[in-house]
Amino acid sequence: SVVEISVISLFPEMFAAVRDYGVTGRAVQNGLLSITCCNPRDFTTDRHQTVDDRPYGGGPGMVMKTEPLQQAIALAKASVAPGATVIYLSPQGRPLTQAGLAELAAKPSLILLAGRYEGVDERLIDSEVDEEWSIGDYVLSGGELAAMVMIDGLSRLLPGVLGHHLSAEQDSFAEGLLDCPHYTRPEHYRDMAVPDVLLSGNHEAIRRWRLKQSLGRTWLRRRDLLEKVELGDEQNKLLAE
Ligand code: ADE
Repeated sequence: SVVEISVISLFPEMFAAVRDYGVTGRAVQNGLLSITCCNPRDFTTDRHQTVDDRPYGGGPGMVMKTEPLQQAIALAKASVAPGATVIYLSPQGRPLTQAGLAELAAKPSLILLAGRYEGVDERLIDSEVDEEWSIGDYVLSGGELAAMVMIDGLSRLLPGVLGHHLSAEQDSFAEGLLDCPHYTRPEHYRDMAVPDVLLSGNHEAIRRWRLKQSLGRTWLRRRDLLEKVELGDEQNKLLAE
């Protein structure tokens, strides 16, 4: 069940970062994920290959023109599985969460529109875009990094992408909590020892310690998350201790 992604971007070379490296790169190599790019500049007809223009009403910055984007989206649609969801990345979109990534990972094909300048002509969004998503309440200089955040986050939820099939389920946020601390050798670093329980071989005690650490850290750092999550009996007991 490959997920086919085509990105609309003026800077397609940037996507080497997800295509060629790490977990996402391996997913591409193993045929679990495909990432292609369509450059709107390839669909310009004027001598200067113009993809942007001045905003109606005046003001600073430039706006991406409809025509090159529309044609790039048409080619992208033809190059992925039918029925692709067209997604525009912008700060005005739905906030991306782990649950949102799971929804996106369940789709057979995605077209990710990465804007530059002040954004794209609203009529292109109205006519071609199915969903608008934001990766957080801050402004990036283009949608490419946001699209790559989305690709990275969803690819590690695809069956067969993470070596360990429990890895994604044991993630921070899989249960709506922050992750527990992790340790590896050496057993002593500077004046700090690895917590005894992790050396005990008692898997049930280790599981409970990790859950308690997750709850404690979430309470201290992100109380907003604890208010959203439905805690089980064991979690409520550990939180009270
Ligand atoms: N493009 C610019 N800023 C963005 C953001 N915060 N999320 C998604 N796309 C963006």
